[in-house]
Amino acid sequence: MNLSLDKIGAAISRSITENFFSANDNSVIFYDLEILRAKIEEVKHAFPTNALHAIAIKANPLSKILNRISKWGMGAEAASLPELYLAQKAGFPPHKIVFDSPAKTVPELEYALREGVYINADSFEELKRIDELLKKVDSMSKIGIRLNPQAGAGAIVSSSTAGEYSKFGIPVIEFRDRIIESFINYAWLYGVHIHIGSQGCSGEMLLKGAEILKDFINEVNTVLAKKDPKRHISTIDIGGGLPVKYKANDISLPVTDYAGGLRGIFEHIENSEFKLITEFGRYVYANSGFVASRVEYVKSSSGIKTAIIHVGADLLLRRCYRPDDWYHEISVLDSMGKPKTENNKQKYNIAGPLCFSGDMLASDIELPIIEPRDIIVIHDTGAYTVSMWSRYNSRKMPKIIGINTTTEEFEIIKERENLNDLFKFWS
Ligand code: LLP
Repeated sequence: MNLSLDKIGAAISRSITENFFSANDNSVIFYDLEILRAKIEEVKHAFPTNALHAIAIKANPLSKILNRISKWGMGAEAASLPELYLAQKAGFPPHKIVFDSPAKTVPELEYALREGVYINADSFEELKRIDELLKKVDSMSKIGIRLNPQAGAGAIVSSSTAGEYSKFGIPVIEFRDRIIESFINYAWLYGVHIHIGSQGCSGEMLLKGAEILKDFINEVNTVLAKKDPKRHISTIDIGGGLPVKYKANDISLPVTDYAGGLRGIFEHIENSEFKLITEFGRYVYANSGFVASRVEYVKSSSGIKTAIIHVGADLLLRRCYRPDDWYHEISVLDSMGKPKTENNKQKYNIAGPLCFSGDMLASDIELPIIEPRDIIVIHDTGAYTVSMWSRYNSRKMPKIIGINTTTEEFEIIKERENLNDLFKFWS
């Protein structure tokens, strides 16, 4: 938990008195824009000034926030054509947009090439499509290829992408010669891309991936130098994947330490001829968000007390479907947003509103006594929550508020969904 409970309580109290968290809001999603800004600055300062930080849209696609981070000089990583459109709408210039996806169609590639965005091809077949397109399309795009360094899987299988097998990229060991051949044959191919995984990957694992990549780059560059002294791999995209702290004993990796490790591997990282791209998502967003939801009922069954709140697997999909892999701290505030801190604790389950038993945000945890109308805070919800919103049971997405803890200002990032939004979705 990054933000103190006192700060969170103060923000929620004010949002209630100023009617942002109104009687019509069962839940409100908050983003602390100061913390977000600080994270972005931390990333910027850790790396050389010419690095492109393409922040992963999949972690948080909210337009107002994308618009902000584009103004702060960041780039955007788009994992689909719609995400690419979101990036363009938010004002990211084409050379700051990185287009990744294992399923790019020919029209999507053509669009990306015409717009001049950076493209990471995911397969040999995609390289071939790009080569064909470049015969008829004038393009400013720079192009790289996603490699699987096969550095091993992290602690969370479903978000690991660099095991022996992965659906992403081309495995470097299995296809070494063919990849080198591609660099020789495609004079427009200049970059390499890896992404080891998201959360659950240690610093050693991330750096091991970078080591493997460096050895491979040296090998390719040696071959290219013999063919054409002007050609070499000039762009390295190291992906995202920095782990963040969701609970006190989680291991997090400060971005400055990671950047220090990378400097030890890539000796040309400061060279202005050389381009480094990062694609962080979780690291910049996770700790800047929290969710507040009113307790509707407190039920008792088989000696277990269950507080029913208004968000569950619709917003916190991973926590509910893969509870052993994902976790969020939970706190209790009174109905006006004052943190409850009494020592007299009881055990509770915190359940969402959805129609299945797995819709459970926490089981058997000790919390201060909970009453209906109290507010449950779920911490560190800034990444992969709103972006993974599920329509199950057709509940409406809550209002999203940006707060600035320095100026004490609020702004609406996204209005609470209304019935028309819902009807439109299902019709
Ligand atoms: N770049 C690529 C190519 C990615 O696939 C990802 C995440 C990122 C960057 C950003 O990674 P980050 O810095 O956020 O760890 N809770 C989700 C996580 C999926 C992450 C997918 N890729 C899930 O469980 O599906």
